[in-house]
Amino acid sequence: MQHKITSFQQYVETYKKSVENPEQFWNEIAESFQWKQKWNQTLEWNFEEPTIKWFLNGKLNITENCLDRHLAENGNKPAIIWESNDSNEPNRTITYFELHAEVCRFANVLQNNGIEKGDRVCLYMPMVPELAIAVLACARIGAVHSVVFAGFSAQSLSDRINDSACKLLVTADGLYRGNKTVGLKEICDEALQSTPSIQKVIVYKRTNQDIKMQLGRDVWWHSEMHKAAAHFDAVEMDSEDPLFILYTSGSTGKPKGVLHTCAGYMVYTYYTFLNVFQYEADDIFWCTADIGWITGHSYIVYGPLLNGATTVMFEGIPTYPDAGRFWSTIDKLQVTKFYTAPTAIRSLMASGLDFVKPYKLDSLKVIGSVGEPINEEAWFWYHDHIGKEKCPVVDTWWQTETGGIMISPIAFVTPTKPTFATLPLPGVQPILVDNEGNELEGNNVEGLLCMKFPWPGIIRTTYGDHERCKQAYFSTFKNLYFTGDGCKRDEDGYYRIIGRVDDVMNVSGHRLGTAEVENAINEHPNVIESAVVGYPHDIKGQGIYAFVIVDKESIEKGIIDTDAALPNSVENDDSLRLLNITSFENEVKNIVSKIISPIAKPDKIQIVSGLPKTRSGKIMRRILRKIAEGDVSNLGDITTLLDPSVVDEIIKGSK
Ligand code: PRX
Repeated sequence: MQHKITSFQQYVETYKKSVENPEQFWNEIAESFQWKQKWNQTLEWNFEEPTIKWFLNGKLNITENCLDRHLAENGNKPAIIWESNDSNEPNRTITYFELHAEVCRFANVLQNNGIEKGDRVCLYMPMVPELAIAVLACARIGAVHSVVFAGFSAQSLSDRINDSACKLLVTADGLYRGNKTVGLKEICDEALQSTPSIQKVIVYKRTNQDIKMQLGRDVWWHSEMHKAAAHFDAVEMDSEDPLFILYTSGSTGKPKGVLHTCAGYMVYTYYTFLNVFQYEADDIFWCTADIGWITGHSYIVYGPLLNGATTVMFEGIPTYPDAGRFWSTIDKLQVTKFYTAPTAIRSLMASGLDFVKPYKLDSLKVIGSVGEPINEEAWFWYHDHIGKEKCPVVDTWWQTETGGIMISPIAFVTPTKPTFATLPLPGVQPILVDNEGNELEGNNVEGLLCMKFPWPGIIRTTYGDHERCKQAYFSTFKNLYFTGDGCKRDEDGYYRIIGRVDDVMNVSGHRLGTAEVENAINEHPNVIESAVVGYPHDIKGQGIYAFVIVDKESIEKGIIDTDAALPNSVENDDSLRLLNITSFENEVKNIVSKIISPIAKPDKIQIVSGLPKTRSGKIMRRILRKIAEGDVSNLGDITTLLDPSVVDEIIKGSK
């Protein structure tokens, strides 16, 4: 733990050093890992291309650093403590020895099923330890893992499998989420109808529900593991070999596969975990995210294990069996560091203190927040009632593309300020610019957040489409990485993230592209066109407001009754479907759930006759956003619109 910053003075000095001589700074941290061959150049970069390489020509395997090197001293230490969806089911504790053996076993299973270094493996799994085992087994054999959040639909799953031509899929029969059971294998079977690259499916038995196994393609996790040896020599990887792909939404309709590589990601997640949370050897660290998101990759699996920490994996949801689940689990497992999302905090806050009061929460030392701006009320509630006014709140700003935490307090070191992510971590060089890319210097400024120098965890490419990576992050402003976020720097030089400035929404901490949701809505047979925007939502942070144009004929013929006179969906025959507004809205929501995921369902749907468009046909989202926010006092100049009168109509019908 020689790289741990323990005072503000030390932070200031370390930061200065990291900016003055980044290569030396990161070299010193990289030295502490187990390498098969040391790197001979620290950094090569060019943001124009972009080309970014760290620790060039180094050879390693990240799992030796997550597992093997801890065995001699800490083999019997718990690596993972698993908390079931069912609060009565006993915890599973997996030591470093056991995790190492299981990972080796599953690496053998992958090999026995035809997987080699460089192959892509898709993981569509419940939050069970086997997901972490599968992630690490891929890394051990050098296969590139692509974890798809198990809340995504069959279509989203097959799109992601196809984009990176995954050869093998690991899934489960089903999963538990609160009082629901989801048939994961059934969803996979639907997805697998259009995924020609998949040769094998490995199925973990979790719910014991009836499923179909396709002979020759589908095999059971347990029977494969039974046959496999508990030893597997970690495959030698180059520093810049791909480690994983993780899909995330951008401003176009198609999710992009963010690609991270081995060494830089390892060094960065190790360092940020150690410092932000001030890791100590006896910590019980709990990050409540799903491994399907970057937060789970970096701060359930890699960051904690690289530090030899004990990491908690939770299968369930914060409100099951009741809204005290997080707090009872903290007491039960004696969690010391807790990391969750503002959405969860707001929803538990809304459930009231009666769910918090029965618990002591006295094991907690640090509490963290990630994924969206945390509003002041939620920050104080978290600080006062969960952290009991003694635990620092680390409001950590980062992105799928950054690999790890970028702007955040260092617990006990950086004085916190509610709603501020505070200061950049060592090695992180933020810059605020105006719309033209001019640097906004000094304090008390607000602009677009960019980075002017690479850090080891930065995205290397978007899988299969490097041009897209360039366009999305490196072309907006010359020689800068553009985050897509608006940001303020206050009088103390503290950073406060305002939110996305592009066509990306952040719903309950989940990133969704407006185009993605619109494409799904447009699949409804009566929808001609749609435009969606985010609007402030008390719990979710942002909700989705959809403006849709339905075909005139539907309205004229009364197929969609905008006066809501019809009782319910009346299906006469295929050609004539009579819908009232509610059933139309439900149909739209169902389509979005089916095509993307229930997390993408619009909260409000308004039927409009036209959308505010410029003469060149571009939708003026700025106007729709204002209407959705309920603030129509200053819509700006609307005279350039093709048909300014639609604006009035939309305002009148707004919800
Ligand atoms: O808008 C920022 C918001 O989440 C976006 C990144 O989303 P994603 O790649 O899904 O990663 C989320 C988990 C790292 C950012 O562009 N965001 C993330 N953390 C914060 C935040 N906004 C405000 N405050 C944060 N702490």
